Amino acid sequence: MNALSGLKSAVVGPPLWLLAEVTYRCPLHCVFCYNPTDYARVEDELSTDEWLRVLREARALGAVQCGFSGGEPLLREDLELMVAEAHRLGFYTNLLTSGVGLTEERCAALKAAGLDHIQLSFQDSSREVNDFLSSTKTFALKQRVGEMLKAQGWPMVMNVVIHRLNIDHIDRIIAMAHELGAEYLELANSQYYSWALENRGHLMPSREQLQRAEAITDEWRQKLDGKMKLFFVSPDYHEARPKKCMNGWGNVFLTITPDGAALPCHTARMLPGLSFPTVRERDLKSIWYDSEGFNAYRGTGWMKEPCASCDQKEQDLGGCRCQAYMLAKDAAAADPVCAKSPQHGVVQAAVAAADAGRLPEQPLIFRGRAESLRLSGADAA
Ligand code: FES
Repeated sequence: MNALSGLKSAVVGPPLWLLAEVTYRCPLHCVFCYNPTDYARVEDELSTDEWLRVLREARALGAVQCGFSGGEPLLREDLELMVAEAHRLGFYTNLLTSGVGLTEERCAALKAAGLDHIQLSFQDSSREVNDFLSSTKTFALKQRVGEMLKAQGWPMVMNVVIHRLNIDHIDRIIAMAHELGAEYLELANSQYYSWALENRGHLMPSREQLQRAEAITDEWRQKLDGKMKLFFVSPDYHEARPKKCMNGWGNVFLTITPDGAALPCHTARMLPGLSFPTVRERDLKSIWYDSEGFNAYRGTGWMKEPCASCDQKEQDLGGCRCQAYMLAKDAAAADPVCAKSPQHGVVQAAVAAADAGRLPEQPLIFRGRAESLRLSGADAA
């Protein structure tokens, strides 16, 4: 493929949304984590000064929203410095956290640094499942953190990744968010990347479970009458059309990995044959506009059949490049979620197994350093 072919039909605007993945380190071991399964090979995190430069370059490019995520971003002791700089530059700032490490002091410091928004993740409404899925004892701590966020005057934004092991608790999950005073609750069905892909057979709900969960969510929407906003993010495997991943490759979203690689999505680094420079090698402007990686799948010029002649191609842009690579072994193929994809059977088979309740023999794999090295083949070296 000609790496510049996508440009023929793309007008490249600035990135609007910067995601600073400041560390892959994390005290939790979630079975659906979207960090790359080989994250343990990444050790050389950007320094404080390097992150501050990233923030300045991204803002100069035009980015207006800045999310700090991980891993667990609170493990960076310089997080408050970064938030303060992002705030000074005029970003709308957001922290995506498990809450582990958030003390009263750090809450106050982050507030003083100008943090606009915190998204707190829970794994479930029950201590038992929350602590099992993250392989930690963090449920009670998260509840305390929820109270701290309210006390600091932040709107409480709660995120729960939904899957087969907690979807039948959705009524209780929504009730818990309401009791904790959340203004927003994101019920994000697991997407099957990274650790969640390894555990897909355990995590994928049946259609019946999904329909029930959506109906319960709708009942709550009516009951709450707008007092808490509920977002139910459907899993794409159960759709016939693919999602417009990241709102288009290299279109609005820019993520920086802990060691400084600039990517159009969380997982693009796994795609073979593409290079993604780090912010240590090039400035963000040249990476965003001129690098091979960002230009590879912009627009529609790179498409082959069935996408090239599809009347939906401008709407979904062929779906997700990472999913095409993971499921069809070709990043330029149609996303196999699409019913027109020749590989759509792979998705249908996974859904059929979930509907029939056929679970894999392989036990759940918890995110962790040893597993990461095993999955990346580094433990054999
Ligand atoms: Fe990489 Fe969709 S996650 S393009």
